[in-house]
Amino acid sequence: MASSHPSLCSPLLLLLFLVTPLTVTSKTFPGDTEALKAVKQGVDPRSIPSGSCLSTWDFAVADPCDAAFSPRFTCGLRCDTSDAAGFLRVTELALDPAGYSGSITPSVWSLPFLESLELADNSLAGAVPLPPPAGLPPRLRRLSLSRNAFSGEIPGFSAAPALEELYLDNNLLSGPIPPGLATLPALRRLELQTNNLTGEIPDLGPLQNLTFLDASNNALSGGFPSGKFPASVVEISLRSNRLEGEIPGAAVAALPALQVMDLSHNGLSGAVPGAAFEHPSLEQLTLAYNRFESIKRPGDGGLVSRLIALDLGHNRLGGFLPAFLGSMPRLSALSLEDNRFTGMIPAQYAVRVVGAWGAVPFARLILSGNYLSGPVPSPLVGLKEGSAMVNLADNCLFRCPPEFFFCDGGRQKPSTTCREFNPVIP
Ligand SMILES: *[C@@H]1O[C@H](CO)[C@@H](O)[C@H](O)[C@H]1NC(C)=O
Ligand SMILES: *[C@@H]1O[C@H](CO)[C@@H](O)[C@H](O)[C@H]1NC(C)=O
Repeated sequence: MASSHPSLCSPLLLLLFLVTPLTVTSKTFPGDTEALKAVKQGVDPRSIPSGSCLSTWDFAVADPCDAAFSPRFTCGLRCDTSDAAGFLRVTELALDPAGYSGSITPSVWSLPFLESLELADNSLAGAVPLPPPAGLPPRLRRLSLSRNAFSGEIPGFSAAPALEELYLDNNLLSGPIPPGLATLPALRRLELQTNNLTGEIPDLGPLQNLTFLDASNNALSGGFPSGKFPASVVEISLRSNRLEGEIPGAAVAALPALQVMDLSHNGLSGAVPGAAFEHPSLEQLTLAYNRFESIKRPGDGGLVSRLIALDLGHNRLGGFLPAFLGSMPRLSALSLEDNRFTGMIPAQYAVRVVGAWGAVPFARLILSGNYLSGPVPSPLVGLKEGSAMVNLADNCLFRCPPEFFFCDGGRQKPSTTCREFNPVIP
């Protein structure tokens, strides 16, 4: 800035002139008011219905923080903090789901005291507002743009020391998950589901506090991200992507806090690792609609497994039904439907449906669409209505005589009938 005046008095006078009148007329820090104005200006006025939060924002007649929760600025913002100069500062911007369209400019980041930005469930479009080089507001803990129409790539959100929750789900975002997300030290929850994200999942290992990751319904590719999740992670959903290859057992064992994992609707193959059945905390595992071919028996036979629900349906699993699944003490829902299993239903499954040996009884047992044969075990025959749900349809169990036959599953080949042992399996 060119020094126009050498006098010492000038800057002081200027300061008095600037600050004194403003503290009288404005309780909100003027820069915060400008940022709020820019947010409202970005929203298409035709999309602001009467009665909505933004319809009450009238900068001509009221001061935002001073008027907050009154008939002007009724909702949409919170100002919990005042700064050293006594100005009220915006700490939360939370627009109502009123159907706002338009876009949000990067000036939304010119709210340095912002702790939460919530714009979910609207029709906002355009790019995710690009954070300034200095980073996001340093106190920002929660950022939600869920269920809008934001498009383009996810910007680098590095330099956001307090950000714990990031919701970008259900938009039209494309391109890769930026590796810079892994530099958000406080991140606990990351939701990216239902976008059009591509590329491999980056190394999220440095996110030492991450517990929840949902990146389902995208077009992510590559293998299971072995070693790329921190040990803190509790829930992972990568459902409906394009992941391929095997799940290494060591990668599952390396996530000791994992409770829920959904990798269904991908192209994963090979063996379901035994580590999933001797895991110390895993309760729900969903691997349906992949190309798994076999199931590895865990070293301990599954006796310490904490699995409650296991869905391995719609794969290419063959051989006999693994008896050890019936020995996992807490398992309550088991689906193996639409695979290539052959042989009889193990006694271990049948007794679990009625409950035995202190193990939790099966509440759901879905074995339909396989090549099972032989007699239906008696505990499954006499089930009363309202007891466990058991589906054995589209096997040969009911159509075959109670001898040992080896039949084509009805669902895959509806026209074939049971026939004596035929080693050719489709
Ligand atoms: C991670 O979580 C712990 C426990 O909640 C907390 O004390 C710590 O500050 C968090 N780390 C970061 C970088 O926020
Ligand atoms: C997703 O991205 C692919 C490749 O970039 C593109 O061809 C496709 O149209 C996109 N789909 C949607 C719904 O945006």
